[in-house]
Amino acid sequence: MKLSRLPVVILIGSTSLLLACADLHHHEHEHQKNAHFIPGLGEIMAQTAVRHTKLWFAGQARNWELAAYEVDELHEGFEDAGKHHPTHKQIKQPIPELIAQHMDRPLAGLEQAIKDKNLQTFIENYNALTAACNACHQGTEFGFNVVTQPSFNPFANQAFGTGN
Ligand code: HEC
Repeated sequence: MKLSRLPVVILIGSTSLLLACADLHHHEHEHQKNAHFIPGLGEIMAQTAVRHTKLWFAGQARNWELAAYEVDELHEGFEDAGKHHPTHKQIKQPIPELIAQHMDRPLAGLEQAIKDKNLQTFIENYNALTAACNACHQGTEFGFNVVTQPSFNPFANQAFGTGN
C-alpha cells in the first residue's frame, strides 16, 4: 500500500467502527423496548384460542401429557390477562374476577379428567370450558367472539399423538 493512502484507509475503518457501535446501541435499545412489551388483551385471547384448539386435539389423541401442558398454558395466559389488564375498556367488573368466575371450575375439571385419563369427562369439561369462554364474552359485550369445539386441526407441524 502506498503510504499516502493510509489516512484514507484509517478514516474509512474508524467510520465503519463508529457506525457499528451506533447500530449495536440501536439494537440494545430495541431489546429494552421489547422487554417491556405488554400484549393487549385481544392478543392474549388469540393465544388462548390457539391453546384451546391444541388442548382439544391432545385430548382426542389421549396425549394426556400434552393436554396437561396446554391447560397450564391456558392458566398462564389468564394470569397475564389479569395482571396486565386488571380492567379493560368499558367492562365494569375487574378482569381477574371475571376469569376466576368463568374459568376456575372448567379448568379444574379438565385437570382432573386429564389426571384420570378419562376421555369422556375430558370432553364434558372441554365443552363446559368453551361455554364459559362464550359466557364471559357475552357478559362483556364481546359476544360476537364465538368460541367453538374445533372442527379440524390447523397445526400441520405438530404431532398430537403420543406415537404409541
Ligand atoms: C374476562 C372474560 C373472558 C374470558 C374468561 C375469555 N375471554 Fe376471550 N375475550 C374477552 C374479551 C374482553 C375480549 C376482547 C378483547 C379486546 O380485543 O378488546 C376477548 C376476545 C377473544 C378473542 C378474539 C381475539 C382475536 O384477536 O381474534 C378470542 C378468539 C377469544 N377471546 C377466545 C377465548 C377463549 C378460547 C376463551 C376460553 C378458553 C376465552 N376467550 C375466555 C374476555 C374473555
